[in-house]
Amino acid sequence: MRWNARGVTSAYDSSFGYVSAQGAPLVELLDPRPGERVLDLGCGTGVLTAEVAARGARVLGIDGSPGMIEKALAQYPGLDFIIGDGHDFSVAQPYDAVLSNAALHWMSRDPDLVIGNVRDALQPGGRFVAELGGSGNCAALIAAVSTAWREYGLREPELPWFFPSPAEYASRLEKGGFAVRLLEYFDRPTSLDECPDGAADWVRLFGAPLLEGLPGDIVEPLLRRVNELAAPALRRETGWMADYVRLRFAAVRR
Ligand code: BEZ
Repeated sequence: MRWNARGVTSAYDSSFGYVSAQGAPLVELLDPRPGERVLDLGCGTGVLTAEVAARGARVLGIDGSPGMIEKALAQYPGLDFIIGDGHDFSVAQPYDAVLSNAALHWMSRDPDLVIGNVRDALQPGGRFVAELGGSGNCAALIAAVSTAWREYGLREPELPWFFPSPAEYASRLEKGGFAVRLLEYFDRPTSLDECPDGAADWVRLFGAPLLEGLPGDIVEPLLRRVNELAAPALRRETGWMADYVRLRFAAVRR
């Protein structure tokens, strides 16, 4: 499954602005310096790219979604953005750092290939600083999807994401030519209050590939059932929360 299938760009940007907002600690961890060359892999609409640029770094944003790149270029006309896939990109001149927020879990086809491409895009000593969903990410959401699909007699859905454990990802990084300097694994319940239809909206926006090919008349009742199943775990008095689990790391190219 491709990592650029992140739902509708405008919805992603408005309802899910937290994707960028919660990337701020990652920029702190990256600590970009004036004049450094930074690649923002899976840049989405470019919010973090712009933060890195504001610190004086020369940054290129790359994303597999033409819609995201179009929006990034419109929002930040002075910055550089290109369409590109983490599985298949190369750079003419190596970078000082690669940043990636909430994107690597979409690059699920061959995570080692992605890590190898990042390594090749960095000079020796270059930093790879990223955050992605870790194992157990969205467990309650995914369980509700699985159960609803089963109840409707549908095949177990093939998930488009890759949520590695800290040990697994550290091992991949080390095998891929990186020294891991920091690796954090933590729960980050994330408010979905801007999703009026709760877990169902989350599936519509982020799990759109799961809905492809389903008979049209089944989708709405199926998603209503997802909401019923997810509500005990995820609906609070204040609104819906997604059960996000994060893996955040800083690694250095050997
Ligand atoms: C995440 O950021 O963890 C995520 C977002 C959408 C779908 C799956 C995971």
